[in-house]
Amino acid sequence: MKTNFYNKSIEKYSITPNGVITSKSHSNIALIKYWGKHNNKIQIPLNSSISYSLGKVYTVTRLIYQEKKKKNNSSIRVFFSGKEKTSFLPKILKFFYRISFYCSYLRNFNFIIETSNTFPHSCGVASSASSMSALALCIMKMEKKLVPSLKEDFFFKKASFLARLGSGSACRSIYPGLVVWGHHQSIEGSNNLYAIPYPYEIHSIFTKIEDTILIIDDKPKKILSSKGHKLMNHHPYARERFKDANQNMNRLISILKRGEFQEFGELIEHEALTLHAMIMTSRPYFLWMKANTINVIHMVWDFRKQNNKNIYFTLDAGANVHLLYPIQEKTSIIKWIYSNLFFYCKKTIESFCL
Ligand code: PMV
Repeated sequence: MKTNFYNKSIEKYSITPNGVITSKSHSNIALIKYWGKHNNKIQIPLNSSISYSLGKVYTVTRLIYQEKKKKNNSSIRVFFSGKEKTSFLPKILKFFYRISFYCSYLRNFNFIIETSNTFPHSCGVASSASSMSALALCIMKMEKKLVPSLKEDFFFKKASFLARLGSGSACRSIYPGLVVWGHHQSIEGSNNLYAIPYPYEIHSIFTKIEDTILIIDDKPKKILSSKGHKLMNHHPYARERFKDANQNMNRLISILKRGEFQEFGELIEHEALTLHAMIMTSRPYFLWMKANTINVIHMVWDFRKQNNKNIYFTLDAGANVHLLYPIQEKTSIIKWIYSNLFFYCKKTIESFCL
């Protein structure tokens, strides 16, 4: 059944004229990557994706609202780590505009948004995912104040729906664990409008995965993902990519059930390199990897071969490397990372899959 996210009658409910709402949301790392969206639709993916939400890397957002005295446009101010950030405003204003059709009550308020991350923004660790998801959760908490009878299931579905309108992958950050976004014929309930928690059996090995993030480049990305997605619309290999992503999801469903870590690792490395291959072969083309990204990849491959360890990498839209391994192997792997890979990166973040 389709969920109706419009809620035009909300304004008749009352809410205290001023208030503060706080939400926290985690970043996520995709195993099967979302890359490419429908041309004339808002954030509708061209293939389904699945991610792990990440512990320790999150955004905390405070939404301060104040009822407007006049019927003018809402004023919105954004603060990041205590400093006003006018450069974040265009994205936030676009987001508020998009969601205003589903949250008409927002027009009655002015807002101050205070946000902070536990990790550097625009460095390849998905800060737009956690920040848009945290903001969407704040807005849904506001809606819940207006409509206390709102059901939990609707609350999260709509939060994911709103987050998607801010940044596609943000819709997956609403939930912990493995989260699917985008319709896939083998996953019941999966759809393009909002994400859902992965609904099938997960072997215990995949419930405690470590993710050591190697920050190889901490500068903001030169090409925004919104531009990158567009390049898939005329990409010579796009059709094959979407087919491959679709098959990879079927493979992953089976792997997650059987608990085959090696197959899992090979699949996520294939996905990561495919994402980068897509950007390298688009027009214009880009290269996100730095020399140290490649150095790290080769080090991981050599270490794995020589020591028979379960450590595999994945990449986001940037130079940084996520190293995924089961918690059971943490002691030896982390020791190896710190003594062999530290040299290649600016910083490391010891995260884990929630
Ligand atoms: O959500 P966006 O528009 O920033 O796109 C994110 C795309 C990737 O991070 C590269 C892959 C994914 O599925 O998260």
